[in-house]
Amino acid sequence: MIKTDILVVGSGIAGLTLALKLAKKRSDLNITVLTKTNENESNTRYAQGGVAAVWDLEKDSYEKHIDDTLDAGDGLCDEEIVRIVVEEGPTRVRELIDWGTRFDREQDGDYDLGKEGGHSENRILHYKDLTGQEIQRALLAEADKMPNLDLHEHFFALDLITQHHLGYMVTRLTPGITCYGTYALNKQTGEMETIIARKTVVATGGAGQVYRNTTNPVIATGDGIAMVYRAKGRLENMEFVQFHPTALYNPAGENPDFLVSEAVRGFGGILKTKDGEAFMKNYDERGSLAPRDIVARAIDNEIKKRGDEYVCLDCTHLDPEGFVAHFPTIYNKCKSLGIDPMKDMIPVVPACHYMCGGIRVDEKGLSSILNLYACGECTCTGLHGANRLASNSLLEAMVFAHRIHEAILDNIDQVNLQEAIPDWDAKGTTQPKEMVLITQSWKELKEIMSSYVGIVRSNTRLKRAMDRLWLLYRETEDLYTTTSISPQLCELRNLITIGYLVTRSAAMRRESRGLHYTTDFPDKNDFIEVSIM
Ligand code: FAD
Ligand code: SIN
Repeated sequence: MIKTDILVVGSGIAGLTLALKLAKKRSDLNITVLTKTNENESNTRYAQGGVAAVWDLEKDSYEKHIDDTLDAGDGLCDEEIVRIVVEEGPTRVRELIDWGTRFDREQDGDYDLGKEGGHSENRILHYKDLTGQEIQRALLAEADKMPNLDLHEHFFALDLITQHHLGYMVTRLTPGITCYGTYALNKQTGEMETIIARKTVVATGGAGQVYRNTTNPVIATGDGIAMVYRAKGRLENMEFVQFHPTALYNPAGENPDFLVSEAVRGFGGILKTKDGEAFMKNYDERGSLAPRDIVARAIDNEIKKRGDEYVCLDCTHLDPEGFVAHFPTIYNKCKSLGIDPMKDMIPVVPACHYMCGGIRVDEKGLSSILNLYACGECTCTGLHGANRLASNSLLEAMVFAHRIHEAILDNIDQVNLQEAIPDWDAKGTTQPKEMVLITQSWKELKEIMSSYVGIVRSNTRLKRAMDRLWLLYRETEDLYTTTSISPQLCELRNLITIGYLVTRSAAMRRESRGLHYTTDFPDKNDFIEVSIM
C-alpha cells in the first residue's frame, strides 16, 4: 500500500499545475502524481493555438471575453463560472510565465496575441504552434525541483476507492460517498497497487479516442470520467463533444489526426471547397472564424452535399515568412505530405477534439464525492456550456487548479487516511489469450460512435448506437471479470462507458444546441435542460 497526503491522477496542465501549487505551499505534505504513460504524454502537449486571456486592457476587456464565451456556449454556460475564469485567468498565465513558460513576443516586446474562432479580439498567448509542448516542458521542469512531489510514470489508475470497497452498498442516491484513493496498475511490475490519500484529484483529460478521427493522443480514453461514473459520482453535459473543424486530411490515416490550428484562420486562412468557393459566409457572417460548432457543421454539410472527402484551408495569399514563423510545425507537416501551404490549399476534415461535459464540479473543483476533486478537460465546470470557445481549455485548467489547491489546503489537516482498504482482488482471473478481442472491439466502438453519434445525430442513429454499445458492453464486462487486468482492456471498458454516456445524454436532449445537433429536433427548446447522469 502506498500512502500519500494528496493523490493527483494525470500529468497534463491540470494535474501538474495543481501538484506544483500544493507542493510549493506546503513542504510538509507529500504530493503523488500518477501518469499512465510517460510524464510528457497528454492532450496538453499537443495544444497549438494557445491560451486565451485578456492581456491588453486598452483594446480588450473582461466583458468582451465573457460575452464571447457565453455566445460560443449557446445558452448553457454558468455565467458566474465564466466570470471567475476570465477574471482570474491572466494572473494564472503570469504564474505560468514566472515558472519559465515562453510565449511569442512582437518586435516591440509586447506579447504577440493571436485570434481564433468566436473571439472578438486578439487575446491568445502562444508559443509558435507548440504552445502545449512549451507549457508541459516548463511545468515538468518546475515539478522536478520539488522534493515533496513524486511523479510516478506508467501507473494506470483503475478505480477510485470508496465505501463500496469496504463492503457497503453504494448507489447514486447514497449520501456522503467518500473517496479514499485509487487502485492503480504499476505497468512496469504488473502489480496492482492500493494508493490511499487524504485527498484525491482526477485530472485525466479527455476521451477523443472514442471516435475514429480525433486530434487527441492515444492516452485520451476518458478514464477519469468513467472511474467517477463507476464510483457513482455526478457527470454532466456529456452530449457536447467538440469536433475541431480543421484536422489535416491524410488518406493514409494516422492516430491522432494532425491538427491545423484555428490560429491559422485567425492569421487569415480561408475555408474553401475543393474548387475554391469560400463557403463559410453562407453559414455565418463571421465566416471562417465563426465558433467551432458552426464551422464543423458547415464543413460536414459541404462534404456530404458535394460528396468530397475534405474541404480546404487556403493560405496561399498569406505572407510566407509570417506563416512559417507562426506555424513551423504545421508548415513542416504539410510539406512532409507533399503539400506546400504557400502554393497548395491544405485539405482538412473535422475530427473529435474536446469533451465539454464530464465530472460535475463546483466552483472550487469539488466533485459530488467527498474528498474527490477534478480538474481540466475531464470536468464540467459550467465554463463551456454547449460549446467551448477556442483556447479556453488551458485557461480553465489553470484557474481551477488554483482554486482546488486553495480548497484542499483549507481542510486537509482535518482529514485522516482510511487505512482499512482491502487489496485488489484478482481471484479467478486468467491471462488474456486473444488481444484481438480487445482491439477489434475498440475499432467497432469507434465506428459506432463516428457513424451514429457524430456531428449530426438523429433518434434512429442514437438508438442504433445504443443497441450496438450494449453488445460491446456485455462482451467487455465478460472479459473484464474473467481475465487479469491490462491497460488496453481497462481503456476499452472506459471508452465504452464514455460512448454510452455521450449517446444517452444525446438521446435525452430533445433539441439542437451548441455541439449537439439532431435532425429530429433541429431547433432550440425554450426550456433549457441540463443532462445529469
Ligand atoms: P491532459 O493534458 O490530457 O492530461 C491528462 C493526463 O492524465 C495525462 O498525463 C494522462 O496520461 C493521464 N491519465 C489519463 N488517464 C489516466 C489513468 N487511468 N491513470 C493515470 N494517468 C492517467 N486547448 C486550449 O486551450 N488551447 C489550445 O491551443 C488547444 N489546442 C489543442 C490541440 C490539440 C491537438 C488537442 C488535442 C487539444 C487542444 N486543446 C487546446 C485542448 C487542451 O489541450 C486540453 O483540453 C488540455 O490540455 C487538457 O489538459 P488536462 O490536464 O485536463 O488533460
Ligand atoms: C487550435 O489551435 O485550433 C486548438 C485550440 C483549442 O482547442 O482551444
